Amino acid sequence: MTATGSGGNTAVSSGGNTGVSSGGMTATGSGGMTANIPADPACLAPLMKAQCTTCHAPGQALSQGLDLTAANIGSRLAGKPSTQAGCGGLLIDPTTPANSLMLVKVKGPTSNSCGLGMPYGTNGLTGTDLQCVTDWINSFGH
Ligand code: HEC
Repeated sequence: MTATGSGGNTAVSSGGNTGVSSGGMTATGSGGMTANIPADPACLAPLMKAQCTTCHAPGQALSQGLDLTAANIGSRLAGKPSTQAGCGGLLIDPTTPANSLMLVKVKGPTSNSCGLGMPYGTNGLTGTDLQCVTDWINSFGH
């Protein structure tokens, strides 16, 4: 083939926040590593609404800047660092899912500097709610 015209390849820009659409896709992180980002499971949105979004919604004083009302929570939080001073954790850690703050905090009060258990000030989620979050977070990176 003869290349005519303007050099073909334009760099695909990687703008700050990729509002990646419907989960189930592969996101390439800045380190060139690839981690699987599963779609949000069906059990997640109702759980967030019942347990989390009274605080974690845009404009809420206690949101900690975390929006759990919008879709694609997984792709939005994967790889994002905690906003908590002194907490080195990621909200969702796609390479070591068990360390994800979304999971650690709903299991109860944290023993590190990453803040309280969620829902805020409780001993965390139980039963099918905890199972939903556990299965979802553990499906990252696979
Ligand atoms: C009563 C308000 C309230 C509710 C309800 C609540 N949170 Fe929080 N959440 C907070 C506050 C305040 C913080 C910051 C302080 C802390 O981490 O202890 C926080 C922090 C977090 C963080 C860490 C953010 C960061 O940048 O480190 C995660 C993750 C989180 N919440 C998830 C949840 C989930 C999941 C639920 C529902 C199961 C939930 N929260 C319910 C108030 C709430």
